[in-house]
Amino acid sequence: MYIPHWECWSLEAYSSIYIAQSSSRFSKISPDSIMDISLSIIHEIGFPTLALHLPITVVDISEKLSSWDTSVLNPKNRVDCAEPTCTSKLGWRIDGSADEGTRFFAIPTTLLPNLPPLRIDVFIPEQTEHPPEFRDALQSNFSAVLKDSRVANLGVSHYICHVLDHWSRGDPNFLRSLRTLPFGSKIIIPKITSPKYSPVHVIPAHDLERNLLSVRALQVPWKDDILPVSWPPMVDIYELQLHAQIHDSISLVYIPSRHRDEILIFKSTATEPRFLYHELKVLLTLPPHPNVLSKPLYVVAKRCAFGGKNAVCGFILPYYSAGSLKEALPSRALNGTLTLNTQLKWACQITAALLHVHSAGTFYADLKPENILLSPSLPDEDYNSIDDDLILIDFEQRGNWFAWSAPETLYHEYLEIIVSSLPPEKTAKFAHLLSSYFPAADDVRSRVELDSKKYTNPQHGYCASWIRLILAQQESATVHALGKLLWCVFEGQANVQHSIRNSLRYEPDLEFPAFRRTPEKLRELIYLCTRDTAEWRCQTRERRSKILRI
Ligand SMILES: Nc1ncnc2c1ncn2[C@@H]1O[C@H](COP(=O)(O)OP(=O)(O)O)[C@@H](O)[C@H]1O
Ligand SMILES: [Mg+2]
Repeated sequence: MYIPHWECWSLEAYSSIYIAQSSSRFSKISPDSIMDISLSIIHEIGFPTLALHLPITVVDISEKLSSWDTSVLNPKNRVDCAEPTCTSKLGWRIDGSADEGTRFFAIPTTLLPNLPPLRIDVFIPEQTEHPPEFRDALQSNFSAVLKDSRVANLGVSHYICHVLDHWSRGDPNFLRSLRTLPFGSKIIIPKITSPKYSPVHVIPAHDLERNLLSVRALQVPWKDDILPVSWPPMVDIYELQLHAQIHDSISLVYIPSRHRDEILIFKSTATEPRFLYHELKVLLTLPPHPNVLSKPLYVVAKRCAFGGKNAVCGFILPYYSAGSLKEALPSRALNGTLTLNTQLKWACQITAALLHVHSAGTFYADLKPENILLSPSLPDEDYNSIDDDLILIDFEQRGNWFAWSAPETLYHEYLEIIVSSLPPEKTAKFAHLLSSYFPAADDVRSRVELDSKKYTNPQHGYCASWIRLILAQQESATVHALGKLLWCVFEGQANVQHSIRNSLRYEPDLEFPAFRRTPEKLRELIYLCTRDTAEWRCQTRERRSKILRI
């Protein structure tokens, strides 16, 4: 059976892609050339479909213009408003971004603190559509890979704030009406041009609100698993005050009517509510465990404009301000405070959390450092402070990044992506592999259920590569990810590989399965957990020489 090995790929560059080896797949690109990174390039190279594409045409934008046209000395290319030195007082700020630099979390600061978290994001064209003469000032390349609060410092964020400021000053009604827009509405800047002339459109998200369900519509199908009395109390979205948007699905909020000045987490989604509802169900049904996120404090509802439905749009969780292992592991390794005792304690707590989930008859499909939060522990009986405890979060059961997937799920994921994203004439062989090696994947009824945009109450969520496994295989796939997580814990790394799609504040300075700090016995254990993964086979020099690094 031929199955493409994708794990050998490592995306190493940050702002550009270096083609270190001639590849016939990239037309118009000379070997050893630098390419600007963009959403479309990431989509071309970041998936197993790359192996089957016709040659990829990458437009070399530098060919389009003469050097004076692109020169930053040319007055027409100055984009002052994109400069970090720009000191204009603007009525908007950017908290982060998603979708490879095409969606930004823009906050109208003049409306704070009385702004509910309505998840109204700003959308801009992808990087290849930014005028070439603006790209340097906008730092378009970086915008494709950065996601967290560092995005606020990019030229493109300054630019967006200028556009929005100019536009919202010209239309004072907009800010007044913003609070009445449907949840997840979109502000679109369709063209990057001078901020004074950039058009801005508002698209109310009536479709999203149509897919939101009322509490009753969730309680009825869940009645055998969750008694209505064990539901958390409801809170109306207009009682929430947005403090910051720290992640695509995570807002920091206040609920002054109930929690005065305590910061809380509002988890929601502006795209696919079915995953949110599944996570809510998992959190409400999973028995409590000290290292697993407890059930939400509140369920958040919003009254929809059409039909007057009081729809569930998210839930409230306690805020763990110490952050996740994604920052804690590398930063403590750097400053020498990641002791073996702490590492062992954390390894045991993560294992206990996974055992707990498994013994509840379900699985955890998204194990990685960013899904494990630090929670301050109580002092011991002598009042000595003890190192933080860990809490496993994120129960959408949607699957993991390829680098974390076990062979049990990885090849299924590859085949599913290939079959669903390329035309059938190119994928007959792979469709055959999918149906012969994974027969359950062909079950039409289950496909309809998994593909539906509407929430359909699937027992174990929507991740086809996990739900087709029997419990013992799920356990084995979990052990695989646990091995990689233990590697991160004992090596003090935030991820097992560099990943351009998931650029981190602390990038790994070592890649799995190389070892530097892990004690010998634990190396053996990590090997036993992960030995069936292709990375071990890629260790040999001959295999490494075949790796095309991007
Ligand atoms: N309760 C919380 N306290 C503090 N930070 C949180 C909390 N929940 C989530 N986060 C932060 O938000 C990120 C995304 O949350 P997560 O639930 O994993 O969402 P997603 O399903 O979108 O990955 C986490 O990696 C973490 O940094
Ligand atoms: Mg997560």
